[in-house]
Amino acid sequence: METTESPLKLVRFYGFRGLKLVKGSGQYVWDSAGRKYLDCHAGHGAALLGHANPDVAEAVARQVSELVAASSGFTTPALEEALHWFSKVAPGWAREIVFLNTGTEAVEAALKAAWLYTGRRRIVAFRGSFHGRTLASLSATWNPKYRKGIPVLGEVEFLRFNSDPAEIAGKVPSDTAAIIVEPVQGEGGVEPASREFLKALREEADRVGALLVFDEVQAGFGRTGEWWSHQHHGVEPDIMTAGKSIAGGLPASAVLSREGILEKLSGGMHGSTHAGNPVSMAAVTAASRHAVKVDLPERAREAGGEMLRMLGEALDGLRAVRRVKGLGLMLGVELRFDPGRIIRCMQEEASVLALKAGATTVRLLPPYMVDGGDARWAADAVRSCICRGYGC
Ligand SMILES: Cc1ncc(COP(=O)(O)O)c(C=O)c1O
Repeated sequence: METTESPLKLVRFYGFRGLKLVKGSGQYVWDSAGRKYLDCHAGHGAALLGHANPDVAEAVARQVSELVAASSGFTTPALEEALHWFSKVAPGWAREIVFLNTGTEAVEAALKAAWLYTGRRRIVAFRGSFHGRTLASLSATWNPKYRKGIPVLGEVEFLRFNSDPAEIAGKVPSDTAAIIVEPVQGEGGVEPASREFLKALREEADRVGALLVFDEVQAGFGRTGEWWSHQHHGVEPDIMTAGKSIAGGLPASAVLSREGILEKLSGGMHGSTHAGNPVSMAAVTAASRHAVKVDLPERAREAGGEMLRMLGEALDGLRAVRRVKGLGLMLGVELRFDPGRIIRCMQEEASVLALKAGATTVRLLPPYMVDGGDARWAADAVRSCICRGYGC
């Protein structure tokens, strides 16, 4: 075998999990020793359509052999098809779209458009929020650990997530450009926003003339049981961000808006070399077609409901567990302590990959094709690891 030694040290953004992942199929991945895992990490939720999804794999392979790069100063069949197919899953209020590469870039573009549209600078965000790690999105991200030592923007105000409408009323300053919120907080702890809270934000945005931005990078594209998680509540934003799974696991993101907002980014006000590149666009088309074909929101609702029920049953009565929560296939088990040891045990002892959310939550973001056996596997893994470490 060819040597893979390198004089370069890879700087890891995240703590190393100690596994070399070599292949995936659907909801499963295999490590270099041939061991099979249930993948409820799914690359931070990007593999919602499963690993090696045949529709995505075929479309990407075909596109790579036809045309790999084209600036969005041109058009391509891949871009036109992506626009057509993504519009089938896009929310009805949206009139404009830009494609980018990552979630954080989508948030940057959304905020930039809001600044340009309103001529204002202030951003209102929420405690527990996560919007990404580049400068504007980091400025709207709550966790002080990620912001330490970075000169984040000063004009961001954090209000309490899911507070009573009465607490929100009158709290958004009149010079606010955008209120940005995740309709289901992911990284912050898997917390769905209430309808009343989202309605109060809509009213505040209208009262002061700010734009309401829903960050659907993690909760969107069917994961929670609706195409976009705000559709559970019937409250509509002015701008929405999407990312993670919209290209079946390849890097692509999007921002959608009402008429005349994203328009402000045209004429060179924004741009990115790979934005709208043909390969990612072919993947967006394949992912959207596949998602429509299988009725992804319905599948996520059913599979997520079953997993939530099994987790609830398996963990019922355990003192270590505060609550089991989530929406569709965005699930959390909130513990009374840091979940690091449980997540490690699930990987090492039960072959289930999961990730952390907030200070105390085990987060599960599995691909949509998880079945009843997988739900039992995940629920038993959490239970046995809690019992092993903390007693039942
Ligand atoms: C709600 C939300 N917004 C933005 C981001 C940033 O996305 P990316 O990591 O693709 O930049 C994430 C990533 O987890 C997210 O969950």
